[in-house]
Amino acid sequence: MQTSNSPFLHIDHVHKTFGETEVLSDIDIGLEEGGFLVLVGPSGCGKSTLLNMIAGFETPTQGDIRLGDRTLTGLHPSQRDIAMVFQSYALYPNMNVADNIGFGMETRGVKKNVRQKKINEVAEMLQIQPLLKRKPSQLSGGQRQRVAMGRALVRDPRLFLFDEPLSNLDARLRVDMRIEIKNMHDTLGTSIVYVTHDQIEAMTLATKIAVLNQGQVLQVGTPEEIYNTPANEFVADFMGSPSMNKAPVALDTDGSAVTIQLADQRLKLHNPSDALHSLAARQESVVLGIRAEDITTTLGQESLDENELPLTVQFVEPTGSDNFISAGDKALSFVSRAKNNVRPSVGDAARLKLDMNRLHFFSPSDGKRVG
Ligand SMILES: Nc1ncnc2c1ncn2[C@@H]1O[C@H](COP(=O)(O)OP(=O)(O)O)[C@@H](O)[C@H]1O
Ligand SMILES: [Mg+2]
Repeated sequence: MQTSNSPFLHIDHVHKTFGETEVLSDIDIGLEEGGFLVLVGPSGCGKSTLLNMIAGFETPTQGDIRLGDRTLTGLHPSQRDIAMVFQSYALYPNMNVADNIGFGMETRGVKKNVRQKKINEVAEMLQIQPLLKRKPSQLSGGQRQRVAMGRALVRDPRLFLFDEPLSNLDARLRVDMRIEIKNMHDTLGTSIVYVTHDQIEAMTLATKIAVLNQGQVLQVGTPEEIYNTPANEFVADFMGSPSMNKAPVALDTDGSAVTIQLADQRLKLHNPSDALHSLAARQESVVLGIRAEDITTTLGQESLDENELPLTVQFVEPTGSDNFISAGDKALSFVSRAKNNVRPSVGDAARLKLDMNRLHFFSPSDGKRVG
């Protein structure tokens, strides 16, 4: 029986070993019904292997995967009530779009009029009705991707799996399809597990993100949790663009306030964690992290405020709407995000104000968050 506190999909302490190599280690992730779980991580971290185990193309070496009230272990892929959309769309080249979408139903013996109705429904939702008579070779990449999704949709599965479905598309189309997939999820309310190495896709699509690296889950949380309170340096670096700024800093304390030293300024921390208090009592060093949007850069260094760092502009990267300004020296440098009307030149004197409520601290030994 599924109890109210057990998740709809439960990847329950799963390990996977190929030969001698453990490619996934103790993966434990739950997804509520109707949720959108994104597995994100660098190439080779084990995302596809995990998805293939949910689909039934691979078997866990250890652990269990449950969907609803039953275990998937031992079930053939066709018995799992799961539909998968792959990165390569694998459409049948000789069949037209309608037949590609309806093929699975045909092999399952679904009657022709039912098939037709279902194909039309899905085609309408994906806005591909005008394409139903075309062959895959007559479609653009984005249209093929829609057909591949249509083929999965007609099955009304309990769970959708997507393995990097947009990585073959150009940037513009990727954004359009991302919005369509999100709309589809909002409309149908189906449960989805979606694999990507693209942190923006993860942030925009997910209700829940699992960040993987080298076969391990480094953090599971909402997009906000992952972005605002990354559990370790890897997650902090991987999520967000540009990557979070980092600097080693020595902690100090006078017994009550905790301070850090940066560019000859001593900055007082707001609400330091207990861990930071005890590290400061031992005058230990930690890794400071701050995102580009949490630094305000002003030109000139005449009247330096408390909490402002006097640094020299190293380069400016215009992106259209924003300018990313790098300032510092060999030892210490920060990238900050500014509006496109802030346009300093290399070598200009600047002052950087860090948002003291948006600082992250990590342990230099294991990279785990300490505050
Ligand atoms: N069938 C297999 N046999 C041996 N090693 C495999 C097999 N499938 C995947 N691997 C290895 O497992 C690791 C994870 O692969 P994969 O799940 O495809 O990563 P990702 O999808 O995150 O890029 C890689 O090191 C890959 O080489
Ligand atoms: Mg993969």
